[in-house]
Amino acid sequence: MLEVDRERARAGTAYPQHAFEIALTVNGEEHRLSVDARTTLLDALRDRLHLTGTKKGCGLGQCGACTLLVDGRRVVSCLTLAVMNQGRSITTIEGLADGELHPVQQAFIDHDAFQCGYCTPGQIMSAVGLIQEGRTRSDDEIRENMSGNLCRCGAYVNIVDAIKDAIARGLDPREAMTEAVEAIRQDAEGKET
Ligand code: FES
Ligand code: FES
Repeated sequence: MLEVDRERARAGTAYPQHAFEIALTVNGEEHRLSVDARTTLLDALRDRLHLTGTKKGCGLGQCGACTLLVDGRRVVSCLTLAVMNQGRSITTIEGLADGELHPVQQAFIDHDAFQCGYCTPGQIMSAVGLIQEGRTRSDDEIRENMSGNLCRCGAYVNIVDAIKDAIARGLDPREAMTEAVEAIRQDAEGKET
């Protein structure tokens, strides 16, 4: 019978043959850790780095609770492995505020865009990504492009209002989109070299 090393199991590396030493850049800070190759980015953040702002809902890519930004793009972190995200810039809800709340965070508060709050970090990160994509030209477009983020409390109407208000507060979608496209271009160039 396979003897499981309990210390290693607690550290997330129960099977040494699957362990990888990786570096993740999260909210501008580099973290070095040893993870089982099968560890999702979501689990690495929550269980290893104790960044529990990113929520785990379905674990199957269906609810959006685990949404964060990787190189400025929306990613459901339960469907990507930690080892695949080395050298990328990962932004979680903990890294959004810069001295004061991000305009999307403040707009969610001002518009009561949540009830229990469980889906809220994912909704906010998705909204930030959505604005950067420039897909906010109508309520329908916002709803369609936020449809991957489920809210069991049904705060959808206020979430749309909050996103529109965040844009009205000065988040320029076109400028943000240019930055996002530039990040994607640099990412592609990095892969070619
Ligand atoms: S926990 Fe990732 S999509 Fe539901
Ligand atoms: S605020 Fe409760 S699930 Fe969205």
